Amino acid sequence: MGMRILVLGSGGREHAIVESLVRSPLVSEVLVSPGNGGTAAVATHVSVSAEDPDAVAAFARDRGCDLVVIGPEAPLVAGVADAVRAAGISTFGPGASGARIEGSKSFAKDLMNRHGIPTGAARSFDSEDEALAYLDDMTGPIVVKADGLAAGKGVIVAQTVEEARAGVEMCFSGQFGDAGSIVLIEEFLEGPEVSLLAFVDGCTVLPMAPAQDHKRAHDGDEGPNTGGMGVYSPVPIVHAQEYARMVEILEATAHAIDSEGIDFQGVLYGGFILTAEGPKVLEFNARFGDPETQVILPRLQTDLAEVLLATAEKRLGDVQLSWSSQWAVSVVLASGGYPGDYETGKTISGIEVAAALPGVTVYHAGTKRLDDGTLVTAGGRVLNVTALGPHFASARDRAYEAVSHISFDGMFYRRDIGARALAGRSAWGA
Ligand code: GLY
Repeated sequence: MGMRILVLGSGGREHAIVESLVRSPLVSEVLVSPGNGGTAAVATHVSVSAEDPDAVAAFARDRGCDLVVIGPEAPLVAGVADAVRAAGISTFGPGASGARIEGSKSFAKDLMNRHGIPTGAARSFDSEDEALAYLDDMTGPIVVKADGLAAGKGVIVAQTVEEARAGVEMCFSGQFGDAGSIVLIEEFLEGPEVSLLAFVDGCTVLPMAPAQDHKRAHDGDEGPNTGGMGVYSPVPIVHAQEYARMVEILEATAHAIDSEGIDFQGVLYGGFILTAEGPKVLEFNARFGDPETQVILPRLQTDLAEVLLATAEKRLGDVQLSWSSQWAVSVVLASGGYPGDYETGKTISGIEVAAALPGVTVYHAGTKRLDDGTLVTAGGRVLNVTALGPHFASARDRAYEAVSHISFDGMFYRRDIGARALAGRSAWGA
């Protein structure tokens, strides 16, 4: 009898996790809450209040789950992993104390400073007046960050002091709730951004393949920040010594967390900037990236169920990750207006044709299947069109060919995913 696994979340990340889990011979059933139009086709949809630790623990126990996989950050920060683990169920994802590395930017910054982990210089403020006064002596660009979780909207890259002041005022306005009651004013780090994620079980750190997200909404890295508009893996502009240094930094961070008495079992996601002085940490997350997962997992050849269970059972030392030599490129199809206001309920067509192309997988994010079987949009980021190919350019071309078959009213996407990396490191001016 294989494992019954409960996955929490509804994004493209969770669809990619579920697709990998259902292929595992170790797995008999995958339950997903709340899931999306894509997970509905391959897993059993269930409903549990994902940010209520006791509710998730009781549900997992009652349904005889062998493993719970927590996708998004909010349930981790709420302590869902602690409650499920306390119920005696293997859990992939850190407890609330480990999730603070994502849930509190000042906690993460202090941890890095205590342990000599390279990151931008920053000061934190719990007073708006003091933060504004501090800006008086500065020049742009400056980064202003709300301390807590703000759904990706709490980081303002200000080109001028005036923009930074507006960012501080926005954070303290209450718009982000408690997340904005502490604000960090941080040095702007110059260079390409790279995500390197690692499985961590407390002592063993297994790095994944690097990936590069495209955070801005529009071509040429213009427009507002989003959750991510496209991604690829591996990242050709990362030098071998930079990769080794990022791995060292993730190991040092995992050891720092452990040395402070925090039990961490899950993904440690390092958001790095490749500066002229070497990689520095922009941020840490305590979960798989979205959309990074949609290019990392299609390249992972090791059984994901085995890796997640080994992480939860602190057996990662027995696991070796193996990666496909194929390149992966993923393009996000978004609803018109995202990351601002957008409409939902638009009929989506063409996915079957796109997904039938060689090497292409269409991961759903904001979609839902109506009772009559129609697939409609249900979120800002709607689909992730991922293609594998023997070369970076072929993977990119396949992804865009697949995209050309899909449509819904108001759909938009970036047409330059991978273009800068294909042009080489000089495209970042470095
Ligand atoms: N790709 C950005 C994130 O997962 O936070």
